[in-house]
Amino acid sequence: MKKCVIVGVGGRHKMFRDVLVKKYSKEYQLVAICDSNLGRLKFAESSLAESNVSVNLYPGKSFQKLLRVERPDVVIITSPDYTHHKYIIAAAQYGCEIISEKPITNNLINLKSIVSAMEKTDSKATITHNYRYSPHRSQIKQFLMDGAIGTIKAVTFDWHLDRIHGADYFRRWHRYKKNSGGLAVHKATHHFDLINWWLSDVPVSAYATGSNHYYNPANAKRLAIDNQGQRCTTCSSKDCTFRLDLRSIENLKMLYSENEEYDGYYRDQCVFDESIGIEDMIRAEVRYSRGAVLNYGLVAFSPWEGYEITFIGTEGTLSQKYLERSVINGDESSLREGSNVETTLLVPGKATEMIKNPHSAGGHGGADPLMLDHIFADDGTPDPLQRKSNHFSASWSAITGFAINRSMEKGKVVLIKDLIQDLTVPNELRLN
Ligand SMILES: NC(=O)c1ccc[n+]([C@@H]2O[C@H](COP(=O)([O-])OP(=O)(O)OC[C@H]3O[C@@H](n4cnc5c(N)ncnc54)[C@H](O)[C@@H]3O)[C@@H](O)[C@H]2O)c1
Repeated sequence: MKKCVIVGVGGRHKMFRDVLVKKYSKEYQLVAICDSNLGRLKFAESSLAESNVSVNLYPGKSFQKLLRVERPDVVIITSPDYTHHKYIIAAAQYGCEIISEKPITNNLINLKSIVSAMEKTDSKATITHNYRYSPHRSQIKQFLMDGAIGTIKAVTFDWHLDRIHGADYFRRWHRYKKNSGGLAVHKATHHFDLINWWLSDVPVSAYATGSNHYYNPANAKRLAIDNQGQRCTTCSSKDCTFRLDLRSIENLKMLYSENEEYDGYYRDQCVFDESIGIEDMIRAEVRYSRGAVLNYGLVAFSPWEGYEITFIGTEGTLSQKYLERSVINGDESSLREGSNVETTLLVPGKATEMIKNPHSAGGHGGADPLMLDHIFADDGTPDPLQRKSNHFSASWSAITGFAINRSMEKGKVVLIKDLIQDLTVPNELRLN
């Protein structure tokens, strides 16, 4: 049985915690949890006690002690993006298996220290790029691998975050670039990972523009949202449609409201605050090593949630439109089924083919349960779709975000080789 620990017991950790103690309790033993917030540690501890699991608790600053005392085989990292590098590197130095949430990290300096530490310690990390596992996205991979539309020359990809899910990135730590790398990194790392994996290729350059159009004080004024407070809890604008009532949603209340006294982490800060430093709309052109061009767009104040993508190949086009149900992270009542996928294959001389989409239940379009099984029940059977993402794959997706950030800042095309050189290209990002 492998000894396992989780670092960061906020919204995301529950998915890992539950699968370990419920489904994989014969193979894994959760021995400890670690977080900088003592209240959230205790909340996670009491939830575990309901499953008759007892764990040791460690504050974030005692992670080295945790490694020394607990000697875990596996470290799962679900703390904020700006802390990932610290835990990945420490766990690698102790020879642990590492499973970390995306993005691998928030900036280029931290990325380089991870890559170098992993090389020195001969370690590998699994970075949980769950989006690869949604059946309708795996299906695209299969079509492209089968050569259904020949060689891909161009991709148009527009990702829409609506005013429920999109707004949520502007309420808390994600709203500062130093924490999340902005949406080009924090959110789009999923999208650039999908593109790298779908194309089996890596980026060579990026040009981007972006700005904050919606989540700013001037827009609050335009929307007649007056007297906005620092956070919803103390705000007098009771009719604001962006109001998040933490105390009315049990899990958010228990996770965040009840534990503010420990670290002053307010989960409901005003989405129109002037200190917000990330873009809510990004347009980018990314070029790939074999000549494909991606035109990418991200908007975080859209009236709908989902994406539209079209691959233009030498032998046809493949398009997918995905309409997703919006979620507030940590609000379990918002995890509903009911998404809708349309996939179309167009090959010259043939009738338009509306592809039947496979379905799977669970978070992120059915991706999460499939990914967890792939990670925790891995018997070494090769996966023809090569869905498991390691720290190299994750670096290649984050690097596109770093290039986009630099391009937005400098107003120029950014070459990936000017950011990093000799980054290993993992198997699944090569055309075999
Ligand atoms: N793959 C996905 O679809 C997906 C979805 C949601 C979140 N995530 C990722 O999961 C991670 C956590 O996100 P979340 O929404 O749960 O955030 P959160 O803010 O709800 O939880 C983060 C937790 O980490 C703790 N923490 C903060 N600083 C720490 C430190 N230095 N050491 C230890 N613990 C610390 C906080 O107290 C909190 O309990 C992020 O990296 C995010 O990108 C991924």
